[in-house]
Parts: sequence; C-alpha cells; structure tokens
Amino acid sequence: MSTNKESWGTRVGLILAMAGNAVGLGNFLRFPVQAVQNGGGAFIIPYLVCFLLMGIPLLWIEWTMGRYGGRFNNHSTPFILDNMTRLRFWKYFGVFGIFTNIAVAAYYCYIESWTLSYVYHSLAQTFSGLSQSQVAQFFGDYVNIGFSTTGIPYEAVVFYILCLLLNTYILSRGLQGGVEKVAKIGVPMLLLFGAFLAFRGFTLGASGAPEGCEDCDSALGLNFLWEPQFTSLTDPKVWLAAAGQIFFTLSVGMGTIHCYASYVRPKDDIALNAMSAGWMNGFVEVVLGASIVIPIAVGYLGLDWVKENAGFAMAFQTMPYLFDQWGPLLSTLAGLFWFGLLFFAGITSSLAMGTPWMGFMEDEFNWGRNKAAWSFGGLVLLMGLPTVFFFNQGVFDEYDYWAGTVSLVIFALAESIIFSWRFGIDKAWNELTSGADIKVPLFFKPIIKYVTPLIILVVFLGALITPKN
Ligand code: PHE
Repeated sequence: MSTNKESWGTRVGLILAMAGNAVGLGNFLRFPVQAVQNGGGAFIIPYLVCFLLMGIPLLWIEWTMGRYGGRFNNHSTPFILDNMTRLRFWKYFGVFGIFTNIAVAAYYCYIESWTLSYVYHSLAQTFSGLSQSQVAQFFGDYVNIGFSTTGIPYEAVVFYILCLLLNTYILSRGLQGGVEKVAKIGVPMLLLFGAFLAFRGFTLGASGAPEGCEDCDSALGLNFLWEPQFTSLTDPKVWLAAAGQIFFTLSVGMGTIHCYASYVRPKDDIALNAMSAGWMNGFVEVVLGASIVIPIAVGYLGLDWVKENAGFAMAFQTMPYLFDQWGPLLSTLAGLFWFGLLFFAGITSSLAMGTPWMGFMEDEFNWGRNKAAWSFGGLVLLMGLPTVFFFNQGVFDEYDYWAGTVSLVIFALAESIIFSWRFGIDKAWNELTSGADIKVPLFFKPIIKYVTPLIILVVFLGALITPKN
C-alpha cells in the first residue's frame, strides 16, 4: 500500500491525461498503415465493431478496477487484482503486466526519440532540396547505428537517452506536477498541429501530381480509407488486425489505465470519463490519423505506390520529402508540426507506461516517486538498447509482437474474466455505475459478461494460429 498522497488536479486534466495515454504514435503511424494493408474502407467496419463490443467495455473494466483499487490506496495492477480476487496468483500475474510496460516503453520511446531528432532536423532544414531516395537514405543511416555516413554517428543513441531523461524527469515530478501538466499542453497542441496537416490532406487534391500520374490525388487516398467496403468482412485476418489496433490504440491490457484511474476519488464519475477519453481517441485516429500521411502521400506519389509501400517508417522516410515540395517556409512549419505532433502524441503515452511500475514500487516497497521514476528510466534504457542497436535485425518487431500484441491480449482476457466472473458482474456493474454522470445502457451488462471475453478469446486463439507476419 502506498502512502503517497497524489491525485488529479481537475477533471479536464484527468480526461486529457487519459486521452493523451490513448492517443499516441499508434493513432498516426500504426492505424493508417493497418487500414491500408487491410483493404482501406474494409477495415473500418471491424474496427468500429471491435471498438464498441470490446474497446469500450475494456475501458470501463479498467477504469472501474482502477478506482476500486484506489479505495484501498493501491495504484498498481498486482495490488488491484489482489484486492478483487483475494488470490495470490493474480498478484503475481499482475507483476508480469508491469514488465510488459517496460518492454513496450523500450521500443516506443525509441520511435518517440526519432520524432525529437526530426523536429531538430526540420528546423535545421536538413531535408531541404533532397530527393525522395536521399530522404529515405537519411533515415536508413539514422537507424543503422554507428555506420552513419551523414550526421552525427550514434545520433539515434543520443536522442534516445535524451528522450528517456525527459520522460523520467517528468515522471519524477508526479501526477499533477508532471503528467497532468504535460497532457494539458501536449494534447491541445497535437490537435492543433493535426488539424493544420489534415486540412492540407483535404485540400491538396491533385495539385501536387507529377506529370502523367493518374492516381495522384489526395481525395483518392481519403476515399480509399473511408468508403466502407463489405468485401473483406469475412476475412479473419482483417478482424484480427482491427482487434489488435483497438487494443494498442486504447492502451488497454497494460495497467496504465488502472494506475491513472486509481487516483480518481471514489465518488467521482468513471463511466462518462472513460467514454470521453475513448471517443476522443477514436476521433483523433479515424479523422486526423487517416487524413495526414496517406492522403498527402497519395497526392504526390499515387494510390498504387502508397498501397505497395505503406509502412510506419513512411512518416520519417517520405513525409519530409513531401513537405519539401511546399516551399521553404511551409515545409519547415509542416515538419515542425508533424514531428511535434508525433512527439506530443508519443510522450503523453510513454509517460503513462511509466506509471504502473512507479505505482507498484510505491505499493510494494513504499518508494518515493523520484526513486520509482529513475529506476523506471534505467530499466527502460537496459531493455531498450537491444532495439536501438539491432533495429535492422528485427529485434524491434519481436518486442512489438510479444509485448505490444500478445501480452496485451492475455492480460485483457484475464482481467475481463476476473471482473465479471470472479469479482462478480453484479458487484462490478454497481462499481462502474456508482457516481456515473451517464446512464450506462443495461445491455452492456451481458456484453461485458459474455461478449467481450469471448471476442478476446477468439482474438487470442486467432493470433496463435495465424503466422506472425
Ligand atoms: N495507445 C498508445 C498509442 O496509440 C500506445 C500505448 C499502449 C500507450 C499501451 C500506453 C499503453 O500509441
């Protein structure tokens, strides 16, 4: 049990912190690529179905578990599971979840550190006048640590350490003084930057099309992503991808929501707050996330090219080249906005990943937040160095698969079963709805009890039998 007396400053601060936790690199880098690779508009229906039947219920489950644990002055998943089940096993199971966070933070912060470096390079106009392949080459050199022929050797390591220091410092300032403050600045800023870039995605049209390119029109990109297609609804791969995206983007199955929600006062609403953060994340993902990289790239390079080449590194390998077509001033601004947006999206999520470890150290050993924060930074650095040094050898993908995909699903399955079947759905429902500022529709009760765990189970089994790539 922790003796630290922390709490959220305001309701707006709490919602922004939770939205910042959810809105992350996943919304801007992962979602568009998943959508393109799974048939564009064909992806959107499974995505929405998974959001409603699995995403929203899991948000409610985690918020409820968190606020419940807070009542016993506990702030970490192992202790919360112990409070709910009174079984030792689940406490140890919760500890496994803490390490998932550290593994995800390790590779997540690496990408976050690229955004910092690219903000710097945009301001320094490093990409000005480079060809598309030169910009791609720059990225190749950047991640090929130590073999770089341009820029500072080991630049990626320097920015990685800087990024970890920044995260650790903010975490050491505490919930109100660190996390909430950053969310209050970061989330509005990223919305503003996103709106500017999405406007460009909407209005670019075919005005940037090179001679002879028939399918270079940003509107084609937007249509491709948004026009619902019913053809691949029977393809299990598309459903699995949609479910996987919902997990990652909502930050469920990691214990970050447990920890944040454990600082909500027992009488305060969780039902509406959880929905607000969830819908805000969905809006940012489907509206802003889909309107930037893909349509702008389609405007210059064509829909076929984008379908073939979509990958999350496009944001770094291709975007600076496309921005450069807008003239010196606008391109510098666009680079600053794009990488600044990614940075704010990233840091408000990586901070969340630090809190379960900190909460656990406080609950178990009564550590102060300074010690807890710096030990988190140190562990992430240790876990992160392999992905930094062996990025090209596929270490990154292994982390993403085991920590960022498989364990989230296992965790979510366990907690949804514990919530409805061990803690008991009636008690759980009372917990969820007490203090609620909305009337949670009663049909969600059977959904939470039967449908959500069943979908997660299907996703889990499906992922086991589908080849990794
Ligand atoms: N939801 C974040 C994103 O979309 C990632 C994340 C996962 C953050 C799990 C915290 C916990 O980028």
